Amino acid sequence: APLKVTKILCIGAGYVGGPTCAVIALKCPHIKVTIVDLNQARIDAWNSPDFKLPIYEPGLEDVVRQCRGRNLFFSTDVEKGIQDAELIFVSVNTPTKKSGVGAGFAADLNYVELATRQIAAVATSSKIVVEKSTVPCRTAESMRTILEANSKPNCRFDILSNPEFLAEGTAISDLFNPDRVLIGSLQTPEGKAACAALKGVYANWVKEEQILTVGLWSSELSKLAANAMLAQRISSVNALSAICEATGANIDEVANAVGYDSRVGPKFLKASVGFGGSCFQKDILNLVYLSESLHLPEVAAYWRQVVEMNEYQKRRFSKRVVDTLFNTITGKRIAVLGFAFKADTGDTRESAAITLIRDFQSERALVNIYDPQVNEAQIWADLQEASPGIPLESIKKQVTIHKSALDACRDAEAVVIATEWKEFKEIAWEEVYKYMKKPAFVFDGRLLVDAERLGAIGFKVTTIGRSA
Ligand code: NAD
Ligand code: UGA
Repeated sequence: APLKVTKILCIGAGYVGGPTCAVIALKCPHIKVTIVDLNQARIDAWNSPDFKLPIYEPGLEDVVRQCRGRNLFFSTDVEKGIQDAELIFVSVNTPTKKSGVGAGFAADLNYVELATRQIAAVATSSKIVVEKSTVPCRTAESMRTILEANSKPNCRFDILSNPEFLAEGTAISDLFNPDRVLIGSLQTPEGKAACAALKGVYANWVKEEQILTVGLWSSELSKLAANAMLAQRISSVNALSAICEATGANIDEVANAVGYDSRVGPKFLKASVGFGGSCFQKDILNLVYLSESLHLPEVAAYWRQVVEMNEYQKRRFSKRVVDTLFNTITGKRIAVLGFAFKADTGDTRESAAITLIRDFQSERALVNIYDPQVNEAQIWADLQEASPGIPLESIKKQVTIHKSALDACRDAEAVVIATEWKEFKEIAWEEVYKYMKKPAFVFDGRLLVDAERLGAIGFKVTTIGRSA
C-alpha cells in the first residue's frame, strides 16, 4: 500500500505555496500542513491575528480562517519543518536570471538549489520531495544528484514534479476544481510509489481521472508548454487586434467568431494591452533558452515571437495614446486606472501598466494612478525599478497615486484603463466626464467599458482592436 501522507511541508509561502497548501489543509483535515519561508514579514502576515494576509486572493482568507492553528501552520523554522515532514513541496521563486550565462532567458534556480541543499543537510528520515516551482526540463535530475550526494543512511529521497496551474485572482476556485493535477515521477517502483502517495493527497477532493501521472520530464515540460500555449493565444489575438484597428474589423467579434469553433474554444481570447504576470514571459523565455541549448533555433525563434508580440502590443498602445492626443502628451494629465497585471489580484509583476506609465513619463506627461488593491509602496518600487537611474523624488513630481478612480480622473485629459477591475465598468462615468478636461479621452486597454455609452456621454473613446 502507498505511504499515507500525514505531514506535509511547503517551502515558500508565496502566491503558489500559500494558497495551494492552505487548500490541501482544508481538504485534508488529517494532514498537518506547515508552510515555511525565509521572509519573516511574509510569515507574520500569514499569521496576523486579523488575517491581513500577504496576498490578496478571493476566498483565501476564508480557507485560512478555517485551518490556521488547526492543521495549517506558518513558520520561519525551515529546519524543524524539514525534519518533521514526510512530503516536502518546493515552491520557491524561479525568476529569470539577471546576469551570467543565460541572462535574460534562463531561470534562476538558485532558490530551488538552496532549498534542496537544506533538505539534504537537515533531513534525518526519508522524504518525498516535490517540485512545485516552475522549472526547466530536467531540473529534478539536478535535485536528485544533490540529495543523493548528501543523504544519510536510512534516508532516501524520491523526487516528483507536480507543477501548479492556478491563475491568480481565481486561485482558490482553480485549486478546489482543477482541470487536472499533473504528477511526474521516475518510472521505477520507488518513483511510482512516491507518485501514488502524492496522488492519495489530491484524491481527497480531485477525481481520480483528473490526476494525470506521467514521466518526470514530461511533467516539467508540460508546465512550460501550457503557459507558452496560453500566452500564444493572447499574442495571436493581439496581433489580430492591430489588423482590426487598421481595417475596421472588431477584435471582440473576430475572437468570438473564431472561438465558436470547438477546436479553438472561447476562453483566453481577450485582446488586451498585453499580458503580464510573473510567469508567462519568464516561462516562455525559459522555453526559448531550452530550445537554444538543444540546438533548435527555429523552435526558439517561434516561441520568442510570442513575447516580442507582447512588447509590440504595449508599445503600440502607448503610441496610440500619444497620437490621439494630438501627438503630444507633454504636461498633460493622464489617469491610469489599474496597476495590477490583471483583476482580482494585488500582484504587479510584469504588469503592462508599469510599461505604459514609464512610456508616459518619458513623454513628460503627468500621471495619476488608481488601483483598488495595489499598495502605494509597491507602485513606487515598481516605477523606480522601471526607470533605473531616475531618483524617486523626480518620479514623484510626475506621478500621483489616488484613493479612488474619480479622484484620479480629476482634471485629466485622458483615462487609460490598464486593468480589467469590475469597478471601472461601474464608475459614474457621467461624473468623471464633468471633472475632466475637454475633449475627454478614454483609452480602453481591456475591452472593458461600453464604448457606445461613453461616446454618448461625450467621451472620445479608443478601444483595443477597433478603429477609432
Ligand atoms: P513568490 O515569490 O510569491 O514566493 C516564493 C517564496 O519563496 C518567497 O516568499 C521567498 O521568500 C521564498 N523562498 C525562497 N527561497 C527560500 C528558501 N530557501 N527557504 C524558504 N523560503 C524561500 O513566488 P510564487 O509566485 O509563489 O511562485 C513560486 C513558483 O511557482 C515559481 O516557480 C513560479 O513560476 C511558479 N508558479 C507561479 C504561479 C503564479 O500564479 N504566481 C502559478 C504557477 C506556478
Ligand atoms: C497564468 C496561467 O493562466 C496559469 O494556468 C499558470 O499557472 C500561471 O500563469 C503561472 O504559471 O504562473 P496568471 O498569470 O496568474 O496565470 O493569470 P492569467 O489569467 O493567465 O493572466 C495572465 C495575463 O494575461 C494577464 O495580464 C491577463 O490580463 C492577460 N490575459 C489573459 C489577456 O490579456 N487576455 C486573455 O484572454 C487572458
